[in-house]
Amino acid sequence: MAARVYLDHASAWPLRPEARQAWADASAVAWADPSRGHREGRAARDLLDRATATAAAAVGVDERSLVWTSGGTEAVHLAVLGAARAAQRRGVVRRHLVCSAVEHSSVLRACERLRDEHGYHLDVVGVDGAGVVDPDAVAALVDDRTLAVHVQHANHEVGAIQPVHAVAEACARHGALLHVDACQTVGQVGLSLEGLGADLLTASAAKFGGPRGTGFLALGPRGRVHALQEGDERQRRRRAGLEDVPGIAATAVALEVARASLQTEFSAREIVRRHLRRRLPELVEDVQVHGPLADAHPGIVAVSALYVDGEALVSRLDEAGFAVHSGSSCASTSGEPSHVLVAMGVLTHGHVRVSIGPETSLTDADAFLDAYAEVVQRLRQSSGVR
Ligand SMILES: Cc1ncc(COP(=O)(O)O)c(C=O)c1O
Repeated sequence: MAARVYLDHASAWPLRPEARQAWADASAVAWADPSRGHREGRAARDLLDRATATAAAAVGVDERSLVWTSGGTEAVHLAVLGAARAAQRRGVVRRHLVCSAVEHSSVLRACERLRDEHGYHLDVVGVDGAGVVDPDAVAALVDDRTLAVHVQHANHEVGAIQPVHAVAEACARHGALLHVDACQTVGQVGLSLEGLGADLLTASAAKFGGPRGTGFLALGPRGRVHALQEGDERQRRRRAGLEDVPGIAATAVALEVARASLQTEFSAREIVRRHLRRRLPELVEDVQVHGPLADAHPGIVAVSALYVDGEALVSRLDEAGFAVHSGSSCASTSGEPSHVLVAMGVLTHGHVRVSIGPETSLTDADAFLDAYAEVVQRLRQSSGVR
């Protein structure tokens, strides 16, 4: 049987071997509660502090400005809802939010919660056909009542890199906070919180080869959050609950490895991405490849095919040995078209996202292209279209 080809790195990378080793090592020596004063607790604290310093340095913040969470989704909720809680506690009366229409569903749902449950006014900014936000459209909405603007760094479905720096300027003019959801770029694209102009930045370890269920929120000098779940004073009261020290230690190691190999991993993936983008429409009729060619995430290729059901496509490709994802990253069971593609106004039918890792070779890409062409043709034939 042919080897499996995993092409869903934008959902979760395989755990890097160094991170797996770090997790095993930390589980043996740093399993105790890091807030306790005994020797076992101090061992856990020591590892936690070192991992925090590593992750903070990776995104260019002070280690006191980093909050560990249970993944990207929780980091996002802390950035959106926790920032609103902190502002309210300081008597800030701003109750206006702006986000882009192509944010990850965790950002959209958190913003909608502030709107629906707490009376905030929410403006959702559209994107162009490549999935890119217009910074002038954001700037036109931001004023002195705006608490925060939420714009991702790279889109998780079509890979568009957003002009966050230009958005940051509009935010700074009006004293609004900028949250940049960098879950798809931390460890994959060179960045820093300051370089992006962000006040809050969110990351997910599963997207750069760290453990699943670990993420973090990094805060700039103006970024303040108040804990969403309370109960103790850990993490400077920004997030209560016992820290997963082995998971955090493994995240820091994954991030170090990712950053050390960033250029090589980026270039290798970019070659495969451009190859797939070029060959897909050459090989298969009536397909649309989405997202920008330049200024894009190196690992994401999004393609829709007319006259084909996306879920059927994913399951036939799976049977043929290829793991890809269909539709929006969190709506795979909802049957709804991807909100990202809808916002872009492009073909939503028969959609798959192919996400490349550093191990993905051109041979893998060619094998995928052959399988894709064959599966699309068979599905079209079985529905009587061709
Ligand atoms: C842009 C973006 N934000 C947030 C998340 C949520 O991260 P997690 O899966 O770690 O909860 C994801 C996950 O796909 C994402 O792509």
